[in-house]
Amino acid sequence: MTRKLFVTTALPYANGPFHIGHMMEYIQADTWVRAQRMMGTQVDFVCADDAHGAPIMIAAGKAGKTPQQYVADIAAGRPRYLQGFHIQFDNWHSTDAPENHALAQSIYRSLKANDLIEVRTIEQFFDPDKGMFLPDRFIKGECPKCGAKDQYGDNCEACGAVYQPTELKNPYSALSGATPVLRSSEHFFFKLSDPRCVEFLEAWTQDGRLQAEVANKVREWFTRDEAGNVNLGDWDISRDAPYFGIEIPDAPGKYFYVWLDAPIGYLASLKNLLDRRGVDFEAYMADPEREQIHFIGKDIVTFHTLFWPAMLKFSGRKVPTAVHVHGFLTVNNGEKMSKSRGTGLSPLRYLDLGLNPEWLRYYLCAKLNARVEDIDFNPEDFVQRVNADLVGKYINIASRAAGFLTKRFGGKLTDRIGGAGAELLATLRAQHHTVGALYAEREFAKAVREIMGLADRVNEYVDQNKPWELAKQDGQDAALQEVCSVCIEAFRVLTIYLKPMLPALAARVETFLKVAPLQLADAATALGAHEIGAYEHLMQRVDPKQIDALFEPPAQAVVTTPEAAALPGGEALAETITIDDFVKVDLRVARIEKAEAVEGSTKLLRLTLDVGEGRTRNVFSGIASAYKPEQLQGKLTVVVANLAPRKMKFGVSEGMVLAASHADEKAQPGIFVLEPWLGAQPGMRIR
Ligand code: 2FM
Ligand code: ZN
Repeated sequence: MTRKLFVTTALPYANGPFHIGHMMEYIQADTWVRAQRMMGTQVDFVCADDAHGAPIMIAAGKAGKTPQQYVADIAAGRPRYLQGFHIQFDNWHSTDAPENHALAQSIYRSLKANDLIEVRTIEQFFDPDKGMFLPDRFIKGECPKCGAKDQYGDNCEACGAVYQPTELKNPYSALSGATPVLRSSEHFFFKLSDPRCVEFLEAWTQDGRLQAEVANKVREWFTRDEAGNVNLGDWDISRDAPYFGIEIPDAPGKYFYVWLDAPIGYLASLKNLLDRRGVDFEAYMADPEREQIHFIGKDIVTFHTLFWPAMLKFSGRKVPTAVHVHGFLTVNNGEKMSKSRGTGLSPLRYLDLGLNPEWLRYYLCAKLNARVEDIDFNPEDFVQRVNADLVGKYINIASRAAGFLTKRFGGKLTDRIGGAGAELLATLRAQHHTVGALYAEREFAKAVREIMGLADRVNEYVDQNKPWELAKQDGQDAALQEVCSVCIEAFRVLTIYLKPMLPALAARVETFLKVAPLQLADAATALGAHEIGAYEHLMQRVDPKQIDALFEPPAQAVVTTPEAAALPGGEALAETITIDDFVKVDLRVARIEKAEAVEGSTKLLRLTLDVGEGRTRNVFSGIASAYKPEQLQGKLTVVVANLAPRKMKFGVSEGMVLAASHADEKAQPGIFVLEPWLGAQPGMRIR
C-alpha cells in the first residue's frame, strides 16, 4: 500500500535570512522526502515564514517598514537559498496568510467550545513611552541574584539565574529606555493542566512515536506529585495590542501569541497548496492513512510535543504521527559560529563563491543520524569526504569506464556479464532494501557508509580487471566491454542510492545514461544492452582554497601593518578645506527605486534613484561585489547630486552614491553603502 505523508520543517522566523542551521534541517528533510518518493511514497512537503510576534513588529518599525512589507522582503530572499541547495518544498507560505488567520481562529473556537480556554488577569511590565506591554527580552535591568547590569528579563548571562522580569532591579525598557510600570491585563490561557490534556499527552508522547531520547526528556514533565497529580501548567496564548499577529475572536485588542499560530501555519501552507490543486483540505486531513510528520530542532520540542498535539487533538483534528528532532550544527568542533573563523558558514557566501551545493548536502548527510545529536562542520573533514569519497570513489567509477565504451563500442553496454562482475552487481543490487530502510530511518550517515563500502568494492573490481590494460591487448574487446559495462551498471546503482542526497547530480547521470528518472526499485533490475550518452565530467573536487575563502575572517579582525594601522581606514586624511569648499558638494538623500546587475560588468550595479526631483536618475555604482540588487531596492542612501554627469561604457551616470571602504581593499574587504537615519526623505540636503 502506498504511504501518504504530509511533511513539514519548522517555520523560520521572518526576521532575517537563513543561516546554515536552517539549511541543515531543510537538507535533512528534503533528502528524506526524496528518498520516500523514490520508494513510491506520496508526499506533500511544505514550509512557510513564521511572520508574527513582537520582535518582528519592532524590527519592522526600526527598518521603517510595515510588518507586512518587512516580512515580504525577507520572503523574497528565500528562493535563492532553497533553489541554490536543491530544496524542493511543494509550497512556501506565510503564517500571516488568510488561511492561517482562519484556521487559527477556528482552532481557538473549538478549544474554547471544549472548555479549554480560560481568561485570567496578570501583571506585566508596560512601556509608558511606547504604549505597549514589553516581551521579556525587551526588559532589561540588574540581576536580582548577582547584581550584574543590563541583564534580560528572564535570565542572567553573568550568573545564570532564572527569574521573572518583575524581579529585576532598576528595570528599563530596551525599546525606549523608559522605566516600565506594572499594569494588569487580561490574558487567555490554554488549559494544558486539564486532566483530559494530561491524559492524552502522556499517552501520545510515550507510545513510541517519538525518538527514545525525546520521549525520555518529555517524561520528566509528567512526574506526579504526592497527590498523584501532574502539573503541566497552563499556557498563556494571548498578547495585547499593539502586536503583529492574529486577532482573537470576540476579544478586541487581543492577539494570539506567535507560538499559537506558528504551527497552525503548517496546515495553512498545506491548505494553500491543496486549494490550488483543487483538493479538499478537510477531506485530505481526514484520511486515516495520511501521516503527518514534522522535522524540527531540539530547541522547540516542547511546542511540538505538548502544545501542538493538544491543540490539534482538542480541536478535533488529526494529531502528528511523528516529530523528527535533530541536534544543532556547530562549526569547527562546537565553536559557536562567527567567532575565530570569521563570519561562520554563510549559506549565501557558500553559493556565491561557487561551491557546489551538493558537496554540502552530501557532507551533512554523511554526518546525520536519527538521534538528537549535534553535528559538526569541519573544513578538513569536508574536503576529505568530498574529494576522497564522493569524487574519488564514486564519480571516478564512471570516468574510468565511460571513455572506453564511447570510443570502442559506440556507447553500447553488453548484457553478457558473468563471473566476478555479475557477483559484484548482485551484491550491489541486494542492498537496495537496506539502503531504502536506512533513508526511511533517517540513518543517512549509515547509508553513506554502506554506499561508500559498495563503491570500494567496485573500485577493487576495476583495479583487478584493469580496463586500461585490456584496452591495449588484442582480442580482449569482449572482456573490456564487459568490465566497463559492469562499472557503468554499478555506477547507476550507486547513483540510485545517492540520489536523495545528490538530486542534481543524479539528473545529469540520468541524461548521461539515457535513462528515465531513477527510482529505488530500478536498482534491482539490469540496464542490459543499453546505449549510453557521452560522458561529461560530473563533479569537481573541492579546492581547499575555496573553503578558506568561505571562512575568511571578518574585515574588522584584520590586522594591517603598523603604519597603516595608525591611519584611519588605512589612509591619511585629505587636505583641510573650508566650509565654503564643503558646501560646493551637494549631498542629497536618495531612494533606490531599482537596482540591477549590469551586463558585462562584475563591479557595477545600475541604480535608479529618486532624489525628490519628480524624475529619477540613473547612477552606476561600483558596489556589485558587496550587494545583491534586491538588498538595495527600496533603501535610502546618500548621493552627490551636483556631480557633472559622466558618460560611461554602459550609459550616463548622473551622480555618485556614497559608500565606505578601507584604502586596502584586499586587507580589509567590504564596501558599505551609507544609509541615513530613519525619517529622512528623498531630496533632503545633507549638511
Ligand atoms: O524557532 C523558530 O524558529 C520558530 N519560528 C519555529 C516555528 S515552528 C512552527 F511551529 F511553526
Ligand atoms: Zn546574575
